[in-house]
Amino acid sequence: MRVTVGVSGGIAAYKAAELVRALQRQAVQVHVVMTASAQRFVQPLTFAALTGHKVITSLWGEWDAGEGAAEQNGIDHIAEAQWCDALVIAPATANILAKLAHGVADDFLTTMHLATTAPVIVAPAMNVNMWSHAATQANLAMLRQRGVGIVEPGTGELACGMTGAGRMAEPEAVAEAVLRTLGRKNDLRGEVVLVTAGGTREAIDPVRFIGNRSSGKMGYALAEAARCRGAKVILVSGPTALAAPPHCELVRIATADEMRKVVLERMKEATVVIKAAAVADYRPVAVSAQKMKRTGPMTLELTPTEDILAEVVRRRGPGQLIVGFAAETENRMENGRAKLLRKGADAIVVNDVAREGVGIDADDNAATFLTRATSVELPEMSKRQLADCILDEILVLRRPRPVVVEVDGLEEAQARVRKESLPAGSGRRTVVVE
Ligand code: CTP
Repeated sequence: MRVTVGVSGGIAAYKAAELVRALQRQAVQVHVVMTASAQRFVQPLTFAALTGHKVITSLWGEWDAGEGAAEQNGIDHIAEAQWCDALVIAPATANILAKLAHGVADDFLTTMHLATTAPVIVAPAMNVNMWSHAATQANLAMLRQRGVGIVEPGTGELACGMTGAGRMAEPEAVAEAVLRTLGRKNDLRGEVVLVTAGGTREAIDPVRFIGNRSSGKMGYALAEAARCRGAKVILVSGPTALAAPPHCELVRIATADEMRKVVLERMKEATVVIKAAAVADYRPVAVSAQKMKRTGPMTLELTPTEDILAEVVRRRGPGQLIVGFAAETENRMENGRAKLLRKGADAIVVNDVAREGVGIDADDNAATFLTRATSVELPEMSKRQLADCILDEILVLRRPRPVVVEVDGLEEAQARVRKESLPAGSGRRTVVVE
């Protein structure tokens, strides 16, 4: 595995040396690119000594990318961009985050960032006010949306003397994030993932509808994460304010019925269906053709919508995995488990939507990934990170589970092994002999 470590100009630049060591301990080949201001904090020689390669310090300077990279051919940032399996920028200053977010390419690191198709991870480090500034947060949101991995800074005493968020994550934690990203690269290749996202709108009249507060962020994060990991993605989305995730097929719908029609048709292509949408449970019995006038108290008659998830489960094809979501405000686990059994899905991601700061419309979420046999707690994190954790759990469901057969004695064991010889690819068989 090959990783390019980009170092930008902050006091935490010295921590990048520890990051290089941590990656090398995991047998990762490391190259280092430094911005001009990074070189004011740490000498390139430090990284050259650690990596055994010249450090890349300028678009125009002389450097040696080592084995596998083009040398001194005038397009070295392209060669480096192709050489690496991941680009990690640590520390990432507010300035470099802004440049990455807006596609500025005015030095080696930022030019290489545009040229690489490898996953990008950043470990921000800055003063607490710079970190919480709306501009920095908007840039981070843009990067997160684009699939850049963000290793959040810690809270504590900062080099500037202030206390708060902004301290670069520990090098070990950054290395771990890089390795996790590399491990995930293309692990969904061959899968076709259908994701539903956002809320539906059930019309009352030409200008009013029954809707809900779902932002679609969780579903969009899942679509983007699945795409980054090599899956083909079909995203069926209710109205949202979000930009379409890159390279996903986006099918826009408005009502529960429209979602149902699209999902039932497109699920035939899918190997995994993830129903993250907040589908309306009821719609008005009649939709007024004209804008309704205010005439005093009124009662709307509602009728239940179809349960799309339950229908998807009934129509599932062989090997298709079906994952639902459960938005709960009370008795989270009890209701989640009941929903899992009632709907017959392989797993349900249970959210506590009553909790402050997570769930509906928030950028963060926490959940429990529930199957009939297991329950995995996924603690509070960004929806993009949670999306990867959910996909990790879905992949666990893909692994063949051993079948345990109880037999009486060795002879029967041998006979059963022969009889139980199941089709190739159905997993290892385990015979328990008493
Ligand atoms: N769902 C669906 N079709 C519906 C309602 C819900 O496919 N008409 C799916 C959602 O996309 C989600 C799961 O069912 O994956 C659970 O949704 P949720 O709103 O939590 O539960 P409900 O089934 O609506 O049950 P309740 O309102 O009683 O909690």
